[in-house]
Amino acid sequence: MQDENAKKWSGRFSEPVAELVKRYTASISFDKRLAECDIQGSLAHAQMLNRVGVLSNEDLKAICDGMAAILADIRAGRFEWSLDLEDVHMNIEKRLTDRIGDAGKRLHTGRSRNDQVATDIRLWLRGEIDTLADLAEELQTALLDLAEKNAETVMPGFTHLQVAQPITFGHHLLAYVEMLTRDVERLRDCRRRVNRLPLGAAALAGTSYPIDREFVASQLGFDGVCENSLDAVSDRDFAIEFTAAGALVMTHLSRLSEELILWMNPRFGFIDIADRYCTGSSIMPQKKNPDVPELVRGKTGRVNGHLVTLLTLMKGQPLAYNKDNQEDKEPLFDTVDTLTATLRVVADMMRGIVVKPEAMRRAVKQGYATATDLADYLVKKGLPFRDAHEAVAQAVRYAADQRKDLADLSLVELGTFSPLIGGDVFDVLTPEGSLASRSHIGGTAPVQVRAAIARHRARLAGAR
Ligand code: ARG
Repeated sequence: MQDENAKKWSGRFSEPVAELVKRYTASISFDKRLAECDIQGSLAHAQMLNRVGVLSNEDLKAICDGMAAILADIRAGRFEWSLDLEDVHMNIEKRLTDRIGDAGKRLHTGRSRNDQVATDIRLWLRGEIDTLADLAEELQTALLDLAEKNAETVMPGFTHLQVAQPITFGHHLLAYVEMLTRDVERLRDCRRRVNRLPLGAAALAGTSYPIDREFVASQLGFDGVCENSLDAVSDRDFAIEFTAAGALVMTHLSRLSEELILWMNPRFGFIDIADRYCTGSSIMPQKKNPDVPELVRGKTGRVNGHLVTLLTLMKGQPLAYNKDNQEDKEPLFDTVDTLTATLRVVADMMRGIVVKPEAMRRAVKQGYATATDLADYLVKKGLPFRDAHEAVAQAVRYAADQRKDLADLSLVELGTFSPLIGGDVFDVLTPEGSLASRSHIGGTAPVQVRAAIARHRARLAGAR
């Protein structure tokens, strides 16, 4: 039912907006999150209007004072957001006008909510990107600490989830450090395109006032201005590419989580996850469930979904601004929230991982992980690789029948598979020998793992 006292949007309208429509079109429940950025943007705009002679000194002073009071109210939780005022922009502007009168009504000169909202989101996202990049680097530090302790810890490396070759646990963890390095690079690269000022585009075509956009940009710490007014108010590609970068962060953390879950399973028994990161079962008393990594894996789907949401939101929109764009906020906010919480929780979880080196070593032995090393040994003695491959295949089959590891066979037994095998073969059949031989940049030899850790630490120290 229409409230008798409800107000019309403007003199252009013959009746007020329907209650149902008000609720449908309002964004205040979520965009109030942009409030501080909205005020920051308004203050820069007002200063610019004053500078170019469009706003008097008294009006500017009133606006600055009024906004300071409003900001204090918001921070103290005293500000009452009104659904009738639709969004964060109109809520703040109306409150300003209630406080300071006509000066408040002059603030919107040469501006539209279209360039205003685009500015707010960019300001907000820029700050969040900086926080996320820092959090990703903190996770890298947690991974590096664990890798350093395990630079020599032997574990099986897998392909097809079958034991392949010995690696060190430190080397395995460093793979994730590399992924996160690229993730941070992507976030920082995306930030360069986020950090451009839309304000001045007004509704879509620019404004007839003698505005100084460069001044506003420098006030707000933007690297430059968006150079086409239609593009400035309408595109959200910066939000899409941020979400894509976020989806990759989550994808990497999801893979790590999947591994933690497998490694914690008693069939592997490679690690333990601290009790504070696990939960029990309400029916099975013996259970300890890796809920946190499972949720990381699950929440990855959520961020991937947000990416598709934003791409779909954009694809059919004609230039310039359309109300569709109001739907950009919830997926973007949730992407930031999910990433922030996930990076924090994973970093802390990694600090509580207990490694079980005996189980890792046992798995290396059971899987004939040094078979490639034996083949390489024969090749170095002159046998063509394909023949060496076959000779070792026979040896593995024999060892499996004997329920022994290759390194447990005698020299006489090994000699039956190739006359080239000598006493020095045992140097390559041990996991340590295998690891040490892979000593090039990117290899799993403990010296290389330590060198890679040092490089990453130096990079992180430089970034701070
Ligand atoms: N709440 C709107 C949004 O989030 C602000 C811009 C509205 N502009 C307009 N002309 N209706 O996009």
